[in-house]
Amino acid sequence: MKTVTNKPILIKPSDRYRHAFLAMAAEYQQAGESYRHHELGQSSFAAFLELVDNDDQGIGLPAGYAPMTHFWLVKDEAILGESRLRHCLTPALEIEGGHIGYSIRPSQRHKGYGTLILALTLEQARGRGLRRIRVTCDTDNLASARVIEKNSGHLSGRTISNRSGQQIYQYWIDLL
Ligand SMILES: CC(C)(COP(=O)(O)OP(=O)(O)OC[C@H]1O[C@@H](n2cnc3c(N)ncnc32)[C@H](O)[C@@H]1OP(=O)(O)O)[C@@H](O)C(=O)NCCC(=O)NCCS
Repeated sequence: MKTVTNKPILIKPSDRYRHAFLAMAAEYQQAGESYRHHELGQSSFAAFLELVDNDDQGIGLPAGYAPMTHFWLVKDEAILGESRLRHCLTPALEIEGGHIGYSIRPSQRHKGYGTLILALTLEQARGRGLRRIRVTCDTDNLASARVIEKNSGHLSGRTISNRSGQQIYQYWIDLL
């Protein structure tokens, strides 16, 4: 049975939301935003769930990668967005990537869900005993910078991304 709720909640990916996942992945694709884990789930949802499980347990990760938990923000029958919580920082993640990544599906942006998914993922981090959270974003990603600032992020620096060559902001969020 699906969890039907009018209030968005954070859940771990599960087979119960397979159709909702496929609808969301198709929407990202139509918007020209492609994610490797969406493509995996579209070709084999079982393989996607296995990846999610392995990431959580730190199985099969490339050297230097941190274990991470995947979450979905769900409301009623739909998945509104996704987040990932890395269980620890590596030197590379402290520079770029941080503890938490998040995304809201294109049709659900500008409704406060980006701010909410980060807040709920921070609660998960607190539950794991983390007290200081690193979050980074491109300096031209105004929406993401605002999401971080609305979750009490304080800017600690900026640098050039090794991956994209773009300038990025680096924030800390202290969990009380
Ligand atoms: C970043 C992202 C998660 C924001 O999600 P969202 O649901 O639109 O965010 P919210 O509705 O909570 O908006 C948060 C703030 O950003 C502002 N904002 C939203 N879109 C904006 C834009 N394009 N430019 C400037 N500000 C913007 C909102 O006005 C709001 O600020 P306010 O409350 O002061 O008005 C979403 O745009 C997204 O998924 N982008 C693609 C993936 C991504 O960039 N992830 C982050 C990687 S670091």
